[in-house]
Amino acid sequence: MGETLERWSTRRAFILAVTGAAVGLGNIWRFPYMTGENGGAAFLVLYVAFVITLGLPVMMAEILIGRAGRRSPMQSLAHLAREAGATPHWRWLGLFGGITVFFILSFYSVVAGWSIEYLIDSANGNFAGLSPQEVGANFDAFLADPLRMTFNHTLFLLLTMSVVAAGVSGGLEKLNNLLMPLLYLLLLILAIYATTTDGFGAAMAWLFKPDPSAITGTVVLNAMGHAFFTLALGACALMAYGAYMPEEQSLPRAVVAVAILDVTVALLAGIAIFSVVFSQGMDPGEGPGLMFVTLPIAFAQLPGGSLWLSIFFLLLLLATWTSSINLTEPMVATLQDAGLKRGHATAVIGALVWAAGMLSVLSFSTMAEVHWIGEMNFFDLVTTVPTDIFLPVGGALIAIFAAWVMSQETAQQALGVDAKGFRLWQSLVRYVSIPLVVIVLISDLF
Ligand code: TRP
Repeated sequence: MGETLERWSTRRAFILAVTGAAVGLGNIWRFPYMTGENGGAAFLVLYVAFVITLGLPVMMAEILIGRAGRRSPMQSLAHLAREAGATPHWRWLGLFGGITVFFILSFYSVVAGWSIEYLIDSANGNFAGLSPQEVGANFDAFLADPLRMTFNHTLFLLLTMSVVAAGVSGGLEKLNNLLMPLLYLLLLILAIYATTTDGFGAAMAWLFKPDPSAITGTVVLNAMGHAFFTLALGACALMAYGAYMPEEQSLPRAVVAVAILDVTVALLAGIAIFSVVFSQGMDPGEGPGLMFVTLPIAFAQLPGGSLWLSIFFLLLLLATWTSSINLTEPMVATLQDAGLKRGHATAVIGALVWAAGMLSVLSFSTMAEVHWIGEMNFFDLVTTVPTDIFLPVGGALIAIFAAWVMSQETAQQALGVDAKGFRLWQSLVRYVSIPLVVIVLISDLF
């Protein structure tokens, strides 16, 4: 297949599409609980450091491959490899990305389902007047109910797959336009409100005063994995979006804008959530339920709390939706390359992801004690290994391809910078980003 002529309509549209992929559960659900489990500020500092040293350069690498190839990830990789006289087997990197996002989407959809449940509950005013203990008990009761979780997981996947099958992400692009500023505003209101709570001081110290003794190998690995996850990086999903990037746009500038937007959303969510944690004397290391027990408590204190809470979950769901559409893209593209029609490819993927997601649903009830690796049940496994191992491995290979394998002239053109700018990016990727991933991964093995 030849090059695609399709382009995002404007520069802003490209930035919005990538921000839509980046901002999602990773910022508002995963970042706070990971920070809580990994020692607070120490994790935050490492995560931001990884975003700068790895995230930015590798994100440029991933998008520039798509932009230079103007094809699906597998075909772009094969085409650019051939052009440079390297083996077209590089295409399998696209398949690896597809496998990675498969596991990620399987739990992502389950957690998105929790948000559907909370949207409905809060719209019905079910949280009004509940004590913090009751909010926590509510969440536990929900997790123990596989039927309700299955319903929501199924509903969310259907919503995602129908958009992907119809190829109408253009409509979502416009939605994004409105959604992002609103989500921002709501998080900002929450964070400002947080400054008036008793726990605010403790929350700021927890988030911004690093305790170096909290840094362990696992914390470093988790922070690296999260940097990839939150930027939607390392699985060729952004490569797919890069294929439609307009010719004249500056890639480095777009990437920096996305990273700043992405990190600020996480910080605002962290301030809001940890203020509740410390005001209520809760445990920051509570785990994946953290957001679902803290936010209802926070909103309950605000006038019109139920309404705000339902608006918040609606916005979160829409942000999650744009991310899950991005997560689906590498899989659909792979199956389309194998000859399937878009609609069929989407149906096959939807069914497989649904089945894998069911293992996560049941990880909170009947299969809670079924351990796959070590002490990990299925949900524990898919929320860690694909993110902490597969994404960095994929990201390193993508970086190696962009900075060592493909024609460096083509790479410079696709990056859209002058020779000096290109050398800076190339040296960063070659001598900082790639070795850093390798060192962190290897040191974790031992
Ligand atoms: N970045 C998204 C989030 O933070 C998740 C995501 C979307 C993602 N697309 C991806 C993660 C591709 C890895 C790869 O919620």
